[in-house]
Parts: sequence; C-alpha cells; structure tokens
Amino acid sequence: MVKQGEATTTGRGDGDTSATGSPSAARSAGKNSNLVAAKSAKNDEFYTQWADIEREMNAYLEYDKDVFRDKVLLLPCDDPEWSNFAKFFALHFMDYGIKKLISTSYAADSKPDTIDYQPTLFETEASQFDETRTRANGKVFVLERKDVNGDGVVNIDDLRWHYLDGDGDFRSAEVTALRDEADVVITNPPFSLFREFIAWLVEGGVKFSIIGNSNAVTYVETFPLIKDNRLWKGATGNNTDMVFGVPKGAPVSEADRLKAEKLGYPSDDDFDYTRLGNSCWFTNIDHGRRHEALQLMSMADNIKFSKHKNVQGVGYQRYYNFQEAIEVPWVDAIPNDFDGPMGVPITFLDKYNPEQFEIIAHGDDMEAMRDIGVKVLGEAFVKKYYEGGGTGGNSPGHRRLGLTEPHYSTAYKRIIIRRKNPS
Ligand SMILES: C[S@@+](CC[C@H](N)C(=O)[O-])C[C@H]1O[C@@H](n2cnc3c(N)ncnc32)[C@H](O)[C@@H]1O
Repeated sequence: MVKQGEATTTGRGDGDTSATGSPSAARSAGKNSNLVAAKSAKNDEFYTQWADIEREMNAYLEYDKDVFRDKVLLLPCDDPEWSNFAKFFALHFMDYGIKKLISTSYAADSKPDTIDYQPTLFETEASQFDETRTRANGKVFVLERKDVNGDGVVNIDDLRWHYLDGDGDFRSAEVTALRDEADVVITNPPFSLFREFIAWLVEGGVKFSIIGNSNAVTYVETFPLIKDNRLWKGATGNNTDMVFGVPKGAPVSEADRLKAEKLGYPSDDDFDYTRLGNSCWFTNIDHGRRHEALQLMSMADNIKFSKHKNVQGVGYQRYYNFQEAIEVPWVDAIPNDFDGPMGVPITFLDKYNPEQFEIIAHGDDMEAMRDIGVKVLGEAFVKKYYEGGGTGGNSPGHRRLGLTEPHYSTAYKRIIIRRKNPS
C-alpha cells in the first residue's frame, strides 16, 4: 500500500516492498545502474513530486468531485517503478471511482545513454520477465476494478503488467490505441517533445492534465488552443518552484539543489532533486481558479494608487502602431473599465477567467497582429529605435507593438485581451 507521507518526502510512493511484488518493490537492483546512467542523463528525466500531483488533482476534484469517476485514465511516459503518477492514482483508485488505470513506460534503450540500465527485482521476479525485451520494450501496467491478489482491496498491488510490442513511445500505434481507449491522460511528458505531445492529445480528443514549461503558452501549437478556451493553465504551481527528482548524479546546479532541499527535498538513495521555476500544468479539465474574477481597479484609480511607478501618475501608453490599444505592463494594473484591446504580460494567463476577458491574439504573431489592425512599425519608428540604443531585430515591415516612452522600443511577450461584457 502506498504511503502518502513517504512519497511526499522522498519523491516516491513506495511502501510495502516485498510481499506482493508490487512495482514499488525491490528496486535495489536498479540503484547502481541509476547512479551510472545519471551521469549522462538528459533533460527529459524529471520525476514529478507527489505533492504537486495531489495539489493539482485536488483542484479538479474540488470543482467536480466526479471528475475521474468511471473514467479510463492513461498515464503515458511514466513508470510506476519510478514515478508518482501511477502510485497516486492507484492509491485513489477506489475513492476517485476510476474505472481503469493504464500506465506506460518508455524503454531503457530508447532513452539517451542509459547503457547501464538494469531491471528491478519487481520485473526480474515476474513470470513474464524476458531478458530480450527488458531494455528494448516499454511496459504497460493496468489496474482494474478487480482484486487480483485477493487481499480484499484494490490497490497498487493489483497492478498487472506486460511488455509492449514497441518501446512505449507515446506516438506509437499501440500507445495511441491506449490514448483512444482513455477518457483522461495525465502525465509529465518529455519536455523536449511537448509540442508533439499536445498535438497528440488534441488529436485524441481526450481530457488531459500535463506538466510543461510555462513558455509553452506562446507556442503556435498551444496559443490558439488557449485563445479558444480549449486549453488553459492548471490551478496550482504557477509562478512557484516545482521540485523534480532527477537520476542520481545528474547535473543539477548547487543553487537549485539547495532550493529543492529547502523546499523539503534533500537527496535520497534514489534521486537528487532540482527545482524549476517555470514549469506549470496545462489542462482542459475545469477548475475553480479560472472562474474567479481578477480583482482590478478602474483606470483612474490605477493612475492614482497603482504601486507601479510606471503606472501611478503616468497612465497607460497607446501603442505607436495600434492606437486603439493600451500597453498594460503589469497584470494587477489591468484597468477594469477600459473597453478596447490591452497588451498584457503572458503571466496574465495564470489569472485568466474566460468570463471576465477574451484573448484576442499573441503579440509575437505578426499575422494575427495584422488581422487585428496593428500597422507596420515603419522607417521613422525603426530609425528612432536604433538611435535610442535598441539592439533587437526590428524592421520597418514588422508588426511588433511599438512603444515610444521612455524610449522607442517594442513590447515584450504581450497577449492582447479585451474585457468581456464592456459597458
Ligand atoms: C519529464 S519525465 C517524467 C516522468 C514521469 N511521468 C514523472 O512525471 O515522474 C518524461 C519521461 O518520458 C520519457 N520519454 C522520452 N521520450 C518519450 C517518448 N517519445 N515516448 C514516451 N516516453 C518518453 C522520458 O524518458 C522520461 O522518463
């Protein structure tokens, strides 16, 4: 049985390690290999912490207590022997009312530089263990509403597994078939394949919740989905550090290691820990935060009382080449009584409530800028820009959002929004 507290502290959810041959059992055989493999570990090996999973799933459950009821859940790019996702959902299998839990792992041979991988005892002691497939094939783990081992409860010890035909690549036909069987897909996918992973989820028409880099909001694959309210940021973990386990010996900066330690994750026998300040959840599962309105002041009050010195007593600039819109340099300085378009920082998406605002376009998307009426910067602007010390690649034909105060510049990473239900 998984012990939640243990998982939170150590980054894994293993409890009982021997009696049933559960995936959490007997991982010692893999430890040495883990140490060696870690030396060359690539950036995709980041193991999610139990507390982060729990916080985000609780937000969905608070909004809809039946969000997982009678659902088939797929956890791809995972591995119950190492990761917390399968352990977390196996622990909550009955109380969430899950119909079927499927987790797939990715083959050691397909991961970079994992030459010293060794199977765990959990695998080698299983009757289906196959020396020829252990490194080359992914695995699929399944938990259903069946007390397989007859101990009176359905939990992680009833998880059964077999080798996949291929390496467990989420893009393979067999994992795609599992996606098509699933109602909900939850994981921390390889960051390097995030764009493909989102496309794969959308193609499958599933509900999902995944971890990614917050910069991904600007990707051409994601922004249109965000704009159309088919994808949004999760309820938790925005603008705070998320701690991840990494294979022992993987390069982690001392500052990040110390920060992770301060957050309650000192290195342990299985993992070192690091923190990422820019990771967050992306989901199409509803949660309460996105229905809370941002509390904002009027334009006049912002000019009087804003804590930002480029707003208080100063007001809002109009863009040089998009006069109907104002530049809003801070999310908390968005005026609640301006009805035109507003350029706001992308961190707005952490607070975005689709009943309060609509998203019109991304400021880096020149075509979208043209479509909403942004003019080209022109020769005169660009001349002043370079005379004023600008070093960016702005050309007269560009439709970046031009600012003239305190000097000629172009706004950085803006989203154009408009108030819903204007007066
Ligand atoms: C960011 S880690 C997360 C692991 C686990 N889901 C967790 O959150 O603890 C992503 C995992 O995906 C695996 N992976 C990389 N490429 C993959 C692919 N094409 N298909 C499936 N998994 C892949 C990596 O080896 C890595 O273990």
